[in-house]
Amino acid sequence: MNKRFYVTTPIYYVNDVPHIGHAYTTLAADILSRYHRLRGYEVFFLTGTDEHGQKVEKAARERGLHPKEHADRMVENFMGLWKVLNISHDAFIRTTDSGHMKTVQGLLQMLWDKGEIEKREYSGWYCTPDERFWTEKDLVEGTCPDCRRPVDQINEQNYFFLMSKYQERLIRHIEDNPDYILPDTRRNEVLGFLKNNDLGDLCISRPKSRLTWGIPLPFDENFVTYVWFDALVNYFSATRYLAPGAEKAGLGEFWWPASHHLVGKDILTTHAVYWSTMLMALGLPLPGNIFAHGWWTVEGRKMSKSLGNMVDPHMMADKYGVDALRYFLFREVPFGLDGNFSEEALVNRINTDLANDLGNLLSRALTMIEKFGGGIVPERIDSKDRDSGWEIINGVNQRTKIFEKEIIGDFTQPHESGMTILQYNFKLSFEKLEFHNVLSLLWGKINHVNKYIQDAAPWKENDKGRLSNILYTLSESLYHIAFNIYPFMPVAAQEIWRQLGIEFEISNSEVPKEWGIIRSGTAIKKGEPLFRRIEKRKEAGEVIKPGPGKEEGANLISIQDVLKVELKVGKILSAERVKKSDKLIKLQVDTGEQRQIVAGIGKAYSPEDLVGKKIVIVANLQPAKLMGVESNGMLLAATGSDGVPVIIMPEKDVEEGSKIK
Ligand code: MSP
Repeated sequence: MNKRFYVTTPIYYVNDVPHIGHAYTTLAADILSRYHRLRGYEVFFLTGTDEHGQKVEKAARERGLHPKEHADRMVENFMGLWKVLNISHDAFIRTTDSGHMKTVQGLLQMLWDKGEIEKREYSGWYCTPDERFWTEKDLVEGTCPDCRRPVDQINEQNYFFLMSKYQERLIRHIEDNPDYILPDTRRNEVLGFLKNNDLGDLCISRPKSRLTWGIPLPFDENFVTYVWFDALVNYFSATRYLAPGAEKAGLGEFWWPASHHLVGKDILTTHAVYWSTMLMALGLPLPGNIFAHGWWTVEGRKMSKSLGNMVDPHMMADKYGVDALRYFLFREVPFGLDGNFSEEALVNRINTDLANDLGNLLSRALTMIEKFGGGIVPERIDSKDRDSGWEIINGVNQRTKIFEKEIIGDFTQPHESGMTILQYNFKLSFEKLEFHNVLSLLWGKINHVNKYIQDAAPWKENDKGRLSNILYTLSESLYHIAFNIYPFMPVAAQEIWRQLGIEFEISNSEVPKEWGIIRSGTAIKKGEPLFRRIEKRKEAGEVIKPGPGKEEGANLISIQDVLKVELKVGKILSAERVKKSDKLIKLQVDTGEQRQIVAGIGKAYSPEDLVGKKIVIVANLQPAKLMGVESNGMLLAATGSDGVPVIIMPEKDVEEGSKIK
């Protein structure tokens, strides 16, 4: 039986439009999956969507849709993005799948039967947007400690999972398994938390009177399951009905436990504490590793809808290419740390690492094979008699000291594990999910080969045998490089093989353990550059001197300044007056996502007239409070002749969320 590798991403809330943060985790899982498939593992890569809960129910109601219909539409955003980003997931789980719901109910029943769940009178503070209860001491100035929004006090009967009794066992598990939570800083945080606090029991139900959009508790129809209990179970339930071979009864266990759960740092506690203790109570094995990655910020600030600074992965992939984006995200910042997303840094990586180091290497090598080898991969002189071949190579080696050790050596020298030295070093970095290290190792090789061309100087070589070997070495090095960059940049890797004249799919290939895989006589197919340099022009073009009548220094702004303002079309979903103000109206506006805006139009408009209207808003304005009410953006209005505001509206119907340029 093959070795197994099961990796998961968080399941994403359907209410969000996917942004770079969602893409990040999913890409990491894709890289790990591709890496393991090439190494002969049977891989199960799972991603999906989290579709129950209050937020979904509310958003659907506002759109006049059933929650499932709303989810059906929103889920397309994720599926579409995964296609664009070349995500090779094996299954996409939706928490509204009947297979999942049945498993959740089955596990709840098991816990209930085992006495792991209890009904209790409960009083607590509830944060509706986060769907989380807090105790009095958790609150920060009376607000939710996570999102700082107001909380409601709730008294009700609820069901509790008796989580507290697993506290000691969980501490021991984390201590005995140093890789259970990675990176180490996060592991220490979780341990610190568990050692210094009393773990409470977990409220896992919501009364149906308050929330209908959830999975009913099998032992009490008046309640539905807490959304996190439902969501976390996805990792297990997918093994029962979505994993390869799951349709055959009993094979569910074949895939459990997962090798890695990849999550963002914000949801580490739910995984490390809730999920781990749920599994303990169920008597199921714990996953091999929970890895908490860092967050992407923009200009050092958290990405948020209200700031309108979300990085759109579609736009980035469109502008710079999917492979370049994939490379950048994992080269720029160690997985596990926070990083700042900057297009300038992305362009630098494209120009330096991709176009220059890798792209030029391919094009120089192929040009030389065209020029000095007639477009055919020449013979490897030592093909029959390795020793005499080495002598010839060593002849080259005198001039190119790095040749044997650095190029062929690491690609081919066997490590005692049976892998090559490079594969072995890769393995160590991959095991800790240190993707930036893998790439830096690989770029070390790429630059050795670049240096080799310089030192071996095939254009000066008169000895036919040596020339042959130099050209062969270049093609074979590129073959190995392509193989190794494949998990990160599958399209560029395959393109290198194509240009080398190799027709096989990398995805179906096996790790090359030897030197000398490319057949002499292969006709190369030199093509377009692998990556194009991106000129760093000033996006806005030349600055023109002010025209007649406009003195220099007058109150003019550059096009860059204009472009900083993000204008969007929004649709007013609801409107109400702000208490104690005759001027301010609080609007809920759909601008592709829902936001609250407070506008000073109350003397000219009444709330009922506004609902359904399309308006123009400044989307990236810093949030502000007007008479204590939060406003995330500004509505554009002209000042009419009588000083009364007149709302600017699009002349024709345009979809909400459309950008204005
Ligand atoms: N539905 C829950 C997860 C349930 S898993 C059983 C959820 N969904 S989410 O859509 O809000 O977030 C999914 C992931 O996106 C989280 O891992 C979160 O850390 C990640 N990110 C959200 N913003 C991010 C950045 N700015 N940067 C990197 N990742 C970020 O939570």
